[in-house]
Amino acid sequence: MSTTIGDVPIDGYTILAPLAGVTDRSFRILCRDQGASAAVTEMVSAQGLASGSERSSEYLDFDGTEHPISVQVFGSEPDVMAEGARVIAEREPDLIDINCGCPVKKIVNRNAGAALMKDPVHLSKVIRSMVEAVSIPITLKIRSGWDKEENASVVARAAEDAGASAIAVHARSRSERFTGQADWDVITRVRQAVSIPVIGNGDVRDAEAARKMLEETGCDLVMIGRWAIGNPWIFSQIERYLDSGTPVSSPSVSDRVETAIRHLRLSVAAKGCPKGVYELRRSLAAYTKPIPSAKGIRRELMTEEDPDRVEVLLRSLDTEDQGGEGT
Ligand SMILES: Cc1cc2nc3c(=O)[nH]c(=O)nc-3n(C[C@H](O)[C@H](O)[C@H](O)COP(=O)(O)O)c2cc1C
Repeated sequence: MSTTIGDVPIDGYTILAPLAGVTDRSFRILCRDQGASAAVTEMVSAQGLASGSERSSEYLDFDGTEHPISVQVFGSEPDVMAEGARVIAEREPDLIDINCGCPVKKIVNRNAGAALMKDPVHLSKVIRSMVEAVSIPITLKIRSGWDKEENASVVARAAEDAGASAIAVHARSRSERFTGQADWDVITRVRQAVSIPVIGNGDVRDAEAARKMLEETGCDLVMIGRWAIGNPWIFSQIERYLDSGTPVSSPSVSDRVETAIRHLRLSVAAKGCPKGVYELRRSLAAYTKPIPSAKGIRRELMTEEDPDRVEVLLRSLDTEDQGGEGT
């Protein structure tokens, strides 16, 4: 299966969602190794990039091995977003994605993130200015609406008219944030409203859910966020299941431990110590959650700053639970 976004072929079915604080280069590498068809960076500020902020440009930390890669940018003013896109384009990603879904006050109060959904005319201006500024395809990640009044299809049509090349739909409104169940019917309606590729997102927890979303909504690709944290295997499970129709086994305890250690080493190499360790704590908790004996080391795992010591803790799990989680 291949979907073309603009002129960029995406081979397969799965995209790693943008997750602030999670989808840094180390995690993207692990997910791509497991078969994710593409990945999106953590969101970066257009204002920061336009003003030359070093901290913002640190988010553009991908290299040639990560293609196809999408950089997600947030902001609200057309000229600033265009300048942000120009800075991003210098690093030659495959896609640039506009964040139209972030519900956080600090972002929406500046008319960025999900606030862009409130004014499709203004959003069209943002998209046009970016499309004119760079030759890289511009995509959007939206929600079902700002509040319970759904306008995803209206926004999607306006975006397509303005030159957007694909739309990812997180099937919840801004006011729902991450609560309740995603309403996949919204994805179906957006799929019917536009002819550019539509990426379904929200509650794809396993391979069967991915199959169901693709079949029920007609979306072209599925995007996975929270369910990939500490679980990069979800991509190979989905890709193989969709290709072969047969369920794929869960990772063994030993796979979990070795992958967590690899993630730790990549994170420390990129961010140093202790930052590379403490920024990984959420993922370490997720890697070890399904391992019964991990209960006994959780507190230490969540406070330890020395990566060698974290590795020893993780390896102690391997010895205790070897084969327990198995197939
Ligand atoms: C910790 C965290 C960080 C997130 N950061 C972003 C972000 O930077 N940009 C964005 O568009 N969505 C962000 N999201 C939303 C996800 O990309 C995704 O839309 C949402 O989690 C629903 O998909 P899921 O059910 O597969 O997790 C974030 C979600 C979480 C839990």
